[in-house]
Amino acid sequence: MEKFKQKKLILLTLGIFSPLAFTSSRVNASTFGAEIFCTMRNGGNDHESSWEAAYSYIKKQKGGWFKVLGGTVTPAIKKAEYGRAPINIDSNVDLLSHVEDKSIMWMSHGDSINSLPNGFNKVAHTENTIHAAIANNQKKLFGVQFHPEVIHSEFGMTVIKNFVYSISKCAPDWTTQTFLEETIPRIKEQVGNKKVLLALSGGVDSSTLAFLLNKAIGKQLTCMFIDQGFMRKGEPEFLMDFFDKKFHIKVEYINARERFIKKLEGVSDPETKRKIIGGEFINVFEEESSRLGPFEYLAQGTLYPDVIESAGTNVDPKTGERIAVKIKSHHNVGGLPKDLQFKLVEPLRKLFKDEVRKLGAALGLPDEIIKRHPFPGPGLAIRILGQVTDEKLNCLRDADWIVRDEIKKADLYNDIWQAFAVLLPVRTVGVMGDKRTYAWPIVLRCVSSEDGMTADWSKIPFEILERISNRIVNEVVQVNRVVYDITSKPPGTIEWE
Ligand code: XMP
Repeated sequence: MEKFKQKKLILLTLGIFSPLAFTSSRVNASTFGAEIFCTMRNGGNDHESSWEAAYSYIKKQKGGWFKVLGGTVTPAIKKAEYGRAPINIDSNVDLLSHVEDKSIMWMSHGDSINSLPNGFNKVAHTENTIHAAIANNQKKLFGVQFHPEVIHSEFGMTVIKNFVYSISKCAPDWTTQTFLEETIPRIKEQVGNKKVLLALSGGVDSSTLAFLLNKAIGKQLTCMFIDQGFMRKGEPEFLMDFFDKKFHIKVEYINARERFIKKLEGVSDPETKRKIIGGEFINVFEEESSRLGPFEYLAQGTLYPDVIESAGTNVDPKTGERIAVKIKSHHNVGGLPKDLQFKLVEPLRKLFKDEVRKLGAALGLPDEIIKRHPFPGPGLAIRILGQVTDEKLNCLRDADWIVRDEIKKADLYNDIWQAFAVLLPVRTVGVMGDKRTYAWPIVLRCVSSEDGMTADWSKIPFEILERISNRIVNEVVQVNRVVYDITSKPPGTIEWE
């Protein structure tokens, strides 16, 4: 009973903490993901569903718990507040303990509080916002108008820690080791003696999942790697060598290269290319899973941000288990046919990317996989603008390999979010020796980013750019020019298609 009471307190606290920080945004979801991990340790699984129910309720309420408690909100009186704002602390409350007065917090709102609910006091303000933080100390309910979860909020993490550890009394005892100790038996219990299929892409999520499932259910796991022909140079060989030979995790290698490139013949529109690749992935997946199966379960590397995004997830009405209607977006596919429905095994669904990386490391995955740059599902096909041909693929693979090689040699790989080459389907004039050339230009794209949602072009030293350019022009026959993309996102995107 005591435990139950504690859980309710945390959920309520979370509720009021949440809507003032604007629950509709995805960033907030991540804040509360951190909290829920702590509360899960205290509360167990049942808490998980009450949290999701509460979150979905809050999302539907304009003004959220704040309104439910009797407060009112109006459009911002002076002006909306976006960006960095120094915060003035008016009252010493636990939530703001060790937060420096006048430190920067990140604001992003067009509303402000008109009247506070009963029992609440203003505890902090900014120049534009009278109620930047509020508290009902007796009931331990708190609200913040700023975003404590964003990196620009100088003491944002202090606020979250105060809330989770001091106020909600959660212990920081949720570690990779405890996650493994809890998750492995849970997977075994869920799967029983049934067979599980995993579509391995070689990215950090599916690779970590393969290691985790291999540890939990061993031979009941079948990994399937579909080579659509748009991987980077040496990648299929590396993956097969790594999983199959080195770690003895059985991977079914499906060579579907010809099928995919044939389907793309004469197609140049980016969206059409993506759709065709997605559709063909489904076809191959369907054929191969029935050939290798039957499988009761499909394992997916769904992460916590995906869970928050996927409202309306399909649930088997009989068993309550989640069932797949979509393969994870990495594979860039729209949906599985109705008669090919799997139950899902998604042990990473409470984790964020950095936690998956830690888990992967604890399971023995090397940096080469854990720290690898993100790579889109449609692969090099969306880095060759317009029509994709074998000749262009080979050319891009060679150029891309040089980019990665030089970035790694310069020890820049781990500082960069993504570094890659793009092939433009136009010819430019050049001169080599005493001969005129007429060949493709390569675009070099290197960006820094936290999450891929926004990005800045990387300020790579000129000598490295020069080396990359020289090598590409000299070593890749069909290329006579290299340009560097200096567009941030927004307005550009990271990929070119
Ligand atoms: P953009 O180009 O939208 O990319 O700025 C943001 C991030 O998403 C990756 N990306 C994809 N990942 N399937 C994926 O799994 C896709 O179809 C896809 N398209 C883009 C991109 O590489 C970057 O990290």
